[in-house]
Amino acid sequence: MEHNSLNLSKSDYFIELEHEFGAHNYHPIPVVIEKAEGIFMYDVEGKQYFDFLSAYSAVNQGHCHPRIVNAMINQAQKLTLTSRAFHNNQLGEYEKFITHYFGFDKVLPMNTGVEGGETAIKLARRWGYDVKGIAENQAEVIFVEGNFWGRTMAAISSSNDPSSYKGFGPYMPGFKLVPYNDLAILEETFKANKNICAFMFEPIQGEAGVVVPHEGYLQGVRALCTKYNVLMIADEVQTGLCRTGKMLACDHEQVKPDILILGKALSGGTMPVAAVLANNEIMLTIKPGEHGSTYGGNPLACAVAMESLKVLTDEKLAENSEAMGIIFRERMTALMQKTNLVSLVRGRGLLNAIVIMPFGNGKTAYDVCLTLKENGLLAKQTHGDIIRFAPPLTINAEQMNQACDIIEKVILGLQ
Ligand SMILES: Cc1ncc(COP(=O)(O)O)c(C=O)c1O
Repeated sequence: MEHNSLNLSKSDYFIELEHEFGAHNYHPIPVVIEKAEGIFMYDVEGKQYFDFLSAYSAVNQGHCHPRIVNAMINQAQKLTLTSRAFHNNQLGEYEKFITHYFGFDKVLPMNTGVEGGETAIKLARRWGYDVKGIAENQAEVIFVEGNFWGRTMAAISSSNDPSSYKGFGPYMPGFKLVPYNDLAILEETFKANKNICAFMFEPIQGEAGVVVPHEGYLQGVRALCTKYNVLMIADEVQTGLCRTGKMLACDHEQVKPDILILGKALSGGTMPVAAVLANNEIMLTIKPGEHGSTYGGNPLACAVAMESLKVLTDEKLAENSEAMGIIFRERMTALMQKTNLVSLVRGRGLLNAIVIMPFGNGKTAYDVCLTLKENGLLAKQTHGDIIRFAPPLTINAEQMNQACDIIEKVILGLQ
């Protein structure tokens, strides 16, 4: 079946294939990407777009970063997978590198972000039993409303978004929700229940629409976790690795979690690589044979992750993210003065969002994204009324201003 035999455009042909043969578990913007470089993506018709999603913050270093791709090719030609049944010469080097990089005793390598979350919860429960002394099967983990950490059964069991959990029960026990950004309720919850082993949260909520907590929240969480002997688990799968203008979003308030989860940009968007970092008191509670993954810690991932982390520091991407984020929010704040369509601009570094008011007879943020696409910029709405803007962190000021010109033109043209 060729696209021209069906009289479809190339793009429509590929979209049709996905529709017919793939599960309908996503609702993408109708664009078919064929290649990408740096901050730009190109569709099958050859049209260029600014990428303002970065594969949900996985492509922080820019698409197909030559250093990361080279590390990948070099390692792929030597050794890609041994499984953890045998040692390999990349894993130890990587473990030493990443633990020094983030200041933890140990790392547990996984593949996807959601596996990182699952691993963190297993570790926290085991620590709860072995170290804190919680009675068997009584451990509880506290999450926040609006959290998003993936689509596994545990992840949806902690979600309060019906589109995540509804129709997939029964759910994982031992999970409770508290409001985000509310230290008083968090303290009441900790005080009332001695069986809490961990509090797991995103320092800035990504999928919820880039929700930034008040100044002092992270320090407050840290202090309460210490006071009540509860592990602080920071899910930095989206906010980490320079996305918010610091290496970690927790660095904005100089706090260190007990368990740190990383993913996405740990491979610069080349393959699934995730990591869970913690100190010995927690990490050594897991014994041989109690956790693992065939691909977790594979030599290809190790080589790629080391290079991806080096690129972040060598290219000063935290600093650039901070500086470019300021330009973006200034431009969007100025745009807000000229239109009623945008009601709020928020974010940190290059993780930002604008809130779109309803317009033109039931049109939503999705319609804005479609028009942005027509004008050469790709972004994705979340929750119907919010558009997240998260370009690769390699973007420069001139490119950022060009992209903001497109956003401004589109929004002013739509009202
Ligand atoms: C904060 C956060 N945690 C975890 C995940 C899950 O990562 P993955 O899709 O790689 O499993 C996501 C994905 O968007 C995320 O935003």
